[in-house]
Amino acid sequence: MYYSEDIVEEVRSSTNIVDLISSYVKLTKKGSSYFGLCPFHNEKTGSFSVSETKQMYYCFGCGAGGNAITFLMEYENFSFPEALKYLADKAGIKLPEKDISKEARKEADLKQTILEVNKEAARYYYAMLKSEKGAAGRRYLSGRGLSEETIKQFGLGFADKYSSGLYRYIKNKGYSDEVLMETGLFRFDEKYGMSDKFWNRVMFPIMDVNSKVVAFGGRVMGDAKPKYLNSPETKAFSKSNHLYGLHIARRNKTRKLILCEGYMDVIALHQAGFPIAVASLGTALTRGQAQLLKRYGDTVYLVYDSDAAGVKAIVRGWYILKSAGLESLVVDLKPFKDPDEFIRNRGAKAFQERLDKASSGFMFIIRNIQGSYDLRRPEEKTRFLHEAARELVKIEEEIERTTYIQAVAEEYGVSFESLRKLVASEAMRVPAPVRAEEEQAPALRKKKPEKDSSIKEAQRLLLTMLTDNPGIYPKISKYVYPEDFSEGLYREAATKLYSQLDSGKANPAAIVSCFGNEKEQQEAAALFQMKITEADQKERSRVLKEAVLRIKRYSLKIAGDNMNPADLEEMQRLIKGRKALEQLEKIDILAN
Ligand code: GTP
Ligand code: MN
Repeated sequence: MYYSEDIVEEVRSSTNIVDLISSYVKLTKKGSSYFGLCPFHNEKTGSFSVSETKQMYYCFGCGAGGNAITFLMEYENFSFPEALKYLADKAGIKLPEKDISKEARKEADLKQTILEVNKEAARYYYAMLKSEKGAAGRRYLSGRGLSEETIKQFGLGFADKYSSGLYRYIKNKGYSDEVLMETGLFRFDEKYGMSDKFWNRVMFPIMDVNSKVVAFGGRVMGDAKPKYLNSPETKAFSKSNHLYGLHIARRNKTRKLILCEGYMDVIALHQAGFPIAVASLGTALTRGQAQLLKRYGDTVYLVYDSDAAGVKAIVRGWYILKSAGLESLVVDLKPFKDPDEFIRNRGAKAFQERLDKASSGFMFIIRNIQGSYDLRRPEEKTRFLHEAARELVKIEEEIERTTYIQAVAEEYGVSFESLRKLVASEAMRVPAPVRAEEEQAPALRKKKPEKDSSIKEAQRLLLTMLTDNPGIYPKISKYVYPEDFSEGLYREAATKLYSQLDSGKANPAAIVSCFGNEKEQQEAAALFQMKITEADQKERSRVLKEAVLRIKRYSLKIAGDNMNPADLEEMQRLIKGRKALEQLEKIDILAN
C-alpha cells in the first residue's frame, strides 16, 4: 500500500458514507440504517443497507459490502489510491506525496504517461480516418457495415501507409524516445531510428473499464498476414485482464453479457442493439477476465466460433466462468462462423432468437462429448456415460449436480439412480485426470471440516453484535478470545475489533481498510453486517449464548485435534477450557 494507515483513516473518517452513497443511490432511513436498491446487482426491492454508525454498506442480496473507499472502488472502478484521492479532495485533505515510494511513484507516472500517449494516438488515428488520407480505412469499415456513429462510439481510426506519422505527431508534444518505447506504439532501429509500429491498418483502441485507452489492435484491410497486430503488454496493459468493449457493456444493468472472440464481433453486436457484448483479446478466457465479467454480470452468453477450437474454448470457458460464479449459456450460430457474419446475414432479430435458445454450458459440453460416441452400440454408450459422469463430478454444489444428473439421464435414456451411482463411483476415483489450466475439480478437493459454515455464521453474528452493542464486550471477552475465531480473515478482524473495543470504540470501517484486496475487504465487511432478525434481537441473550458456545466448542475441538499429546501445558489449557465451557453452558452470559 502506498499510504499509511493513519492517512487512510483520516480520509475515511472525514467522509460520511451516507452522504457519499446518497449521491449514487436513493436511500431511505429504516430504523438505524438506510436502505436502497443495490447498485451492484439488479433488484426490485432494496436489500442494500448503509449504516451511519458503522460507516459501512452491505447488500443482503448480493453480498457486496465495505466502507466508503471500497464503495468508490466498486462503483466507479477506482483503484485504491484513486478512491482515496477522490475522498481526500472532497474533504479538503492533502495527501502526502512522500508516502509513495520512489519506485511506485515512477511506475505510476509511467503508466499515466503511457495512457496520455495512447489517448493522443487514438485522437491521431481517428483524425487520420476522417481525413483525406483515411479514405481506404473509411471504405474498409463501411464495407464491413459499420455506421459513422459506431465508428465514433468505438473510436476507430486509421494508420496510413507512412511509418512515422504518429511518431512525429507525438514527439512534437515533448515525450522522450525512452518513454515512447514503453508505449508499444513504436519501433526502434539502429539505422532508421524510431518509427510507428502500426501502419496501413484500421485501428481499434482497446479501453479499460474507465474508458482509458490501454492498447490498440490494428487490422489489415485485406488478406495479408498477420491479420491483426496488437499492442504488446505494457505498464498500462495486460491483455489477460482486459475485455474489449467492457467500458460500454458495464453500463448495462441487465447483469447479462455476451462473450465473443473478435473486435469486429463486439462492434457488430453493439451496432445491432446488443450493447452487452465483450471479447477476450485473441486469447483463451482467463481467470482475471472472468473476475472482471463477474463484476458486471451473472450470466454470460458464449458466442464462439463453431469450429473445433471454438468448442474447446467453450469447454474451458465454462469451467473458468463457473469457478468465478457465473452461469454460462452457449449460443449456436450455425451455419455462420461468428456473430458478425450471423448478423450481417440474418439480422438482429434472428440473433436474439439464438440467444433465447442458448443451451446451458454444461449440457453443451455433454452433447459435445456424446458426439464422439455411437450411442447405438452398448459398449460405447457405457463409455460415454462414464465420461459424462466424470464431468458431473466436477459440479460442486449438490443440488446443481442432482439437477444435471437428472437432465443427462433424461436426455440419454438412463435411469437417474443408475447415473447417480455412476457419478458417485467416478467421484471416488481420485485423482481424476486434471487438464492443464484447470483447477482440480472442486468436488474432488478435500472436504472442509464439517459445519464450517455454521461456525463462521456464529462468528459473524458475534462480531456484528459486538459492533452493534459495544456494551456487551466486557462480558463476551471474558469467554471468547480472538484466537477462538477461525484462522485468517476472521481471526485478524476479531483481533482488530477487540483491540478497538479495549480502547473504547468499535470502528469496523477502519478494519475493512486494513485488508489488501477488494475481495477480502468485502468479506471483512460482511463480518460486521450479519442480518439479525427481529426475533433474534428480542432473544439477544439466548442467541448470543448459542453463538458463544458454538464458537468455543469448535475452537476447543480444533485445539484438541491439533494437540501435541506430549505438550502437558497445552493439555492443561485444553482441560481448563472444557471445564469453562461446561460452566458457560449453565449461565446467562449477559447477566454475569
Ligand atoms: P475479422 O476477420 O475482421 O472479422 O476479425 P474477427 O474479429 O472476426 O477475428 P477472428 O475471429 O479471426 O479472431 C478473433 C480475435 O483474435 C481477433 O479479434 C483478434 O483479437 C485476434 N486475432 C485474430 N487474428 C490475429 C492475428 O493475426 N494476430 C493477433 N495477434 N491476433 C489475432
Ligand atoms: Mn469475423
